[in-house]
Amino acid sequence: MKLTDYTWEEFSQLPMSTKVECFKKEDGFPAHTLFAQQFDRETLDRLCDLATKIRKIAKKRDGMLFLNSLLSHKRAMLYFSQPSSRTFLSFYSACQILGLKVAEVRDAATSSEFKGESKEDSIRTFSSYFDLIIMRTQEKGLAEHMAWTLSNSERPLPIINAGSGKDQHPTQALLDIYTLKRSFEDNGGLDNRSIMYVGDLLRGRTVRSLSNLLMNYENIEHIFVAPPELQIKQDILDMLAANGSKYSVLTDMRERLSDVDAVYMTRIQDEWDKSKGESASIDISSYKIGKKEIDSMKPTSVLLHPLPRRDEISTECDHDPRAMYWRQMRNGMWIRAALIAATFDCTEAILAYNVE
Ligand code: NCD
Repeated sequence: MKLTDYTWEEFSQLPMSTKVECFKKEDGFPAHTLFAQQFDRETLDRLCDLATKIRKIAKKRDGMLFLNSLLSHKRAMLYFSQPSSRTFLSFYSACQILGLKVAEVRDAATSSEFKGESKEDSIRTFSSYFDLIIMRTQEKGLAEHMAWTLSNSERPLPIINAGSGKDQHPTQALLDIYTLKRSFEDNGGLDNRSIMYVGDLLRGRTVRSLSNLLMNYENIEHIFVAPPELQIKQDILDMLAANGSKYSVLTDMRERLSDVDAVYMTRIQDEWDKSKGESASIDISSYKIGKKEIDSMKPTSVLLHPLPRRDEISTECDHDPRAMYWRQMRNGMWIRAALIAATFDCTEAILAYNVE
């Protein structure tokens, strides 16, 4: 079945496994990238290899000119109605690397939505002028609805979800996987690893998407550490249990800090507070990594953060070889370039390019 076989009401009720099939291209890559569930181990490995190849090609002028030529006939719209620095700029740079011309709407107040235009009409408007829409929204499920809307229009162009509400951030999870794979590539790979997620796991979307993608690897242990008020939701634990993944839910990171392979810190997402000062009343003082904490981590472990950070990782940690967050941020540009290239069927051309 295809997206065009369903009304939105029917489509929105389908199980995730059926939705995923509808969003798949013949080569296995997503036509629209909306959820972490769209990636299996094979597509993740292919995407990471593609990102590495792009990274190598981009080192030389000739290589960069080749990459720039691949999608120079395409235009992308960055539609970001929530704040963003890294995701926005890394997508922007990824588009530039591949030659796409980019336009942006970052504030709904500057678009006709402000005049009462529906989101469907806005998206159809963008689709008249562009070939790809990369969108970040406050609203869970909006990117999916827009992907359905466009697939049922005369211009069925691809949508990439650059973060939707508290729910999903699939391309952040892709760059996190790429960073973890690169971190462990000379040391046994990503299977059989333990990862500790720390911070606001209730309202942060990055951990939800990453824990999902990590289910594609063998024997991963997930450790969720947060104050009880900000702990991970039951749906993620149910998903891990159904997959047979090992997990635990803790309030004190010291219980496992010295034995895990990766620590994934997150900030308190107080923009979602329902009342003023809601987050400020939660004691988060022990959910921070400073010199003492990083020194207690294994020498082979890594410290990640999707950024922006506040004080959950002290700047004293920045030069520690285990601190991966700056590299992680740059990896976002490479994996997003790989995703856009895969979306537009450029993988073979890139893989065939000879880098000496
Ligand atoms: C994250 C996000 O937007 O969810 N940031 C990002 O994309 N790098 C994490 C956050 O804002 O805390």
